[in-house]
Amino acid sequence: MAHRVISLRYRPQNFDELTGQNHIVLSLKGAIKSGRIGHALLFAGPRGVGKTTTARIFAKSLNCVEGPTVYPCQKCQLCREITLSRSIDVIEIDGASNRGIEEIRSLREGVKYSPLHGRYKIYIIDEVHMLTQEAFNALLKTLEEPPPKVVFVFATTNPTKVPTTILSRCQRFVFKRLSVSEITSRLRTIADKEKIKITENALHYLAIRADGSIRDGESILEQLASFIEGEVTEEDVFKLIGFLGNDFYFTLLNKILTVDLGKVIMMLNKGIEDGADPVEIYRGFTNYLRAAFLIRTGVPCEFVELNSEEIEVLKKIELSRDEIIHLLEICLRFEDIVKRSVNVRIAIELLFSQLILCLTKSKKRENNNRVVLSSSPNKNVNIKEALFLDLQKNSPKLAGIIHKADITKNNDNVTVSVKNEFAKTQLVNNQKKVKSILKKILNTDFILNIEIVHQKEEESDLIQTIKVLFDGEEVR
Ligand SMILES: Nc1ncnc2c1ncn2[C@@H]1O[C@H](COP(=O)(O)OP(=O)(O)OP(=O)(O)O)[C@@H](O)[C@H]1O
Ligand SMILES: [Mg+2]
Ligand SMILES: [Zn+2]
Repeated sequence: MAHRVISLRYRPQNFDELTGQNHIVLSLKGAIKSGRIGHALLFAGPRGVGKTTTARIFAKSLNCVEGPTVYPCQKCQLCREITLSRSIDVIEIDGASNRGIEEIRSLREGVKYSPLHGRYKIYIIDEVHMLTQEAFNALLKTLEEPPPKVVFVFATTNPTKVPTTILSRCQRFVFKRLSVSEITSRLRTIADKEKIKITENALHYLAIRADGSIRDGESILEQLASFIEGEVTEEDVFKLIGFLGNDFYFTLLNKILTVDLGKVIMMLNKGIEDGADPVEIYRGFTNYLRAAFLIRTGVPCEFVELNSEEIEVLKKIELSRDEIIHLLEICLRFEDIVKRSVNVRIAIELLFSQLILCLTKSKKRENNNRVVLSSSPNKNVNIKEALFLDLQKNSPKLAGIIHKADITKNNDNVTVSVKNEFAKTQLVNNQKKVKSILKKILNTDFILNIEIVHQKEEESDLIQTIKVLFDGEEVR
């Protein structure tokens, strides 16, 4: 017998086997029990979450010899034929490849005839949003005068593309994206039955990568099982899907906090060399930031797609909620750029340059508010202010320069950063004076550095260019 893939072998055959769509199951069961079966049902939701599966179970429930029942017997001919997709009364049409008016015309012919064996004739149209306008118009006519004993189930991943005239004639069922824990538990059941050994962590990352879709999760599991001997580990998962663990994103985020662009770019490239797809890095990092955001907003842990250890680690990250929001905003602005870019690697590098720029600015702002340097023996002296006040008396020009400068103290080094050559010359010429005042303020000896920083906030030409490209800000 030909090998059948896991996702087909493990297609739920009754409502109770479905994972995570309880709200849908409840209302469908209710409809079946009460005999209030709509003529047209719309199943909307992301890929691989059970739309087609549910449509078939629903068909079985209606047509089973023991039916209509919420527990189809699975044994009668009608049930068996539906399971095998061979039932004459259950017609599945792929809307993506049968988009035109001709197909819908023949459907309109077909609905005139009563069901052959079952109680109902059930049309399941997958990807219904792909139909052409003419096809929708023809379909609408049928829905306006629904033939008896015909039920339509429309499945779509994109309900916004279905005309409202059709939507308003359908009972709508919204399938949800499955959570990491729902996918994990379903895959664990399958792995046990298939005797696939896989660690909890491996399963966790696999479930994250499945991105809400059980079918995607099942496919990855199957692929892993086919080439890994022994137990599947998280490293195997990362290798197969070019996916980096949350450790990677945690380290990356910490590197960004040090605002060292060089190190960040090196780390990104190391990740890519290790086999990660740059788009994957984008996605993984954005999701990781989202988790950080959720944690900062105090959302309960089960909504955060991380395990409890990872949540504890992430709680400690030195980023405020507002900073995280800014970083997320930048990431989202890059979504299109990353996806469309011919050279994704560059797009990713630019993205991280922007993230660092954003943090540099917010840290600067913070520093400007408190230039307190606590490491000096005279604790909590505001060097800048004290120096400014002292200079103001006799050297207003120098005071003005200090006012606009940034002063930092690091061990025995005091660095005065100024904007331009003029300010630097002035300070260098008056070094002695400045140093003696500083000595008085700090009550200690030190090395004085005077440097120029380009006040356009270290914005290199590169970063300026990015800003123009993506923010539409003008360079002056
Ligand atoms: N809710 C679920 N519970 C258990 N298994 C599921 C569920 N959803 C999907 N699956 C698994 O994924 C496979 C595909 O599901 P299904 O065809 O119903 O998805 P779909 O929502 O119709 O996706 P698409 O939009 O891509 O057509 C099923 O055969 C089953 O193995
Ligand atoms: Mg489907
Ligand atoms: Zn049956």
